[in-house]
Amino acid sequence: MKLSQELLNNLIDITSNSAIACYPYIGKNEKILADKAATDIMRDQLNKLNIKGEVVIGEGELDEAPMLYIGEKLGTGNGPEIDIAVDPVEGTNFVAKNLPGSMSVMAVSEKGNLFKAPETYMEKIATGNHIPKDTIDLDFTVEKNITNYSKASKKKLNEITVCLLDRPRHQKIINDLKRLNVNIKYISDGDVSGALLVSDKKFGVDIFMGIGGGPEGVIAAAALDKLNCKFQGRFLFNSNEDKVRAKRMGIKDLNKKYEINEIVRGQSIFCATGITPGDLMNGIVKKNGKYITETIVTYNKNILEIVKKETSIT
Ligand code: FBP
Repeated sequence: MKLSQELLNNLIDITSNSAIACYPYIGKNEKILADKAATDIMRDQLNKLNIKGEVVIGEGELDEAPMLYIGEKLGTGNGPEIDIAVDPVEGTNFVAKNLPGSMSVMAVSEKGNLFKAPETYMEKIATGNHIPKDTIDLDFTVEKNITNYSKASKKKLNEITVCLLDRPRHQKIINDLKRLNVNIKYISDGDVSGALLVSDKKFGVDIFMGIGGGPEGVIAAAALDKLNCKFQGRFLFNSNEDKVRAKRMGIKDLNKKYEINEIVRGQSIFCATGITPGDLMNGIVKKNGKYITETIVTYNKNILEIVKKETSIT
């Protein structure tokens, strides 16, 4: 097994530490500084690991990003070859405004098993593992997805909740959901968490849908894959420049609908540490000279585990 328990423990330490690096910026309206603090720690600590890593999901490409960029090589070079997806702060606005739901996130797979996604939007749909996989589909209308889900789950339409980003681009979906009398959970940011809410009935979300970041889609898929949930994504390209970049990254069919097993394959690890408290886990708590963090993890069990950690304040 290349992705060892030791690697998992290291990754939990890293997302915990990058989340802690953000702590001084919570509510300071400084999202760039918060992101930089988390990114610097993440890079520094990944570089100390005995891995031969490459960033496949990052923040831009070399020429445009002081952040962890796509193609950046990480680690000592001695150890397993792994693909790394990073989002040092998912929900930068939440940190800036001290709102719930920000987290520091990483996903890894063995080399070649995680999709190299361009910085563009993605149309997404996800649901839990309690209904057949063909129940919902990006190519179905909203109405067909909802009525299929209703039949498969034996829930009435008004018992179904759909989570989506609160954006004007979703007005048509929102109108359709309202007409069907379906409940909507709007999120103002943070659609990695939004997608993960389908993974357990306790979160009260049946379907996640809509357009959000492509990199966030791949990261969410890495977690949902381990949890045996349904996810599909299709990249959306607004400019010619975006299309050229995607082709350069190896995407041949720009309109392709990706199934989860085309986005992530084989063994993978997903870790996300709460910065501010959210639906999935608590945020950082400072107590008795320690930071207490909660990290959600998928590894070899089909559950979203929560790992609590105490780190001394130095
Ligand atoms: P950041 O944390 O990088 O600011 O991203 C937040 C986010 O809400 C993502 O979760 C989501 O995928 C994306 O932004 C949506 O983009 P937009 O705000 O352009 O709709």
